[in-house]
Amino acid sequence: MSFDRSIKIAPSILSADFADFGREIRAIEDQGADWVHVDVMDGHFVPNLTFGPPAVKAFRPHVKTFMDVHLMIAPVDPYIEAYAEAGADMITAHVEAGPHIHRTLQAIRGTGKKAGVALNPGTPLEAIEYVLDLADMVLIMSVNPGFGGQKFIHSQVDKIARLRGMIGDRPIHIQVDGGVDPKTAALVAKAGADVLVAGSAVFKGGSVDAPQVYGENMRAIRDAAESALKHA
Ligand code: DX5
Ligand code: ZN
Repeated sequence: MSFDRSIKIAPSILSADFADFGREIRAIEDQGADWVHVDVMDGHFVPNLTFGPPAVKAFRPHVKTFMDVHLMIAPVDPYIEAYAEAGADMITAHVEAGPHIHRTLQAIRGTGKKAGVALNPGTPLEAIEYVLDLADMVLIMSVNPGFGGQKFIHSQVDKIARLRGMIGDRPIHIQVDGGVDPKTAALVAKAGADVLVAGSAVFKGGSVDAPQVYGENMRAIRDAAESALKHA
């Protein structure tokens, strides 16, 4: 079975209604989300605080697609087991979160979950050169982590293209996270990204009572990415 590198949209629930996660998750999946991106923040690695394992456990029964858990926490190793138990399908750790990313990815794989490795905008690709064989996905941050609604950092497009070359035909997804909208989606898809995280660009203008807006927003992002690939 060949590796599926088709465009996937992973809405970040950081931009959802914090009083209604169950319905929000069901709404974005009904409207076409391929994955659900869960931003875990500890107020230490990033200047914001979000979801512990109990919250992720509460999201789990509402997620029918794929729960993609982005750990913006340091240290990360002590919590891998708990997020795996909570039901994550993919657990992504930041290379900057500690000194032993090789062991961290081994630990994530050891739980039976998919393993992702994330790079902040200032971190060079060389940082993950020797752990690609332990990764199912590389997450390229196109904003400085901590908040939704920030401006896309264009220098990351070249990084994505170089990463695509580095990966070759290995079965590794390239995820881009931060400031993704129809305009920037075209750039990152053309550069080689296949999983597009979007928070504000998916949730803006919609609600659980107007979920069709989520669908329109996701279609705009997907269509922009796919047509950029067609004309690449
Ligand atoms: C930022 C998070 C992103 C963020 C994306 O630290 O990792 O997933 O929620 O939000 P937008 O798409 O609004 O930039
Ligand atoms: Zn994220």
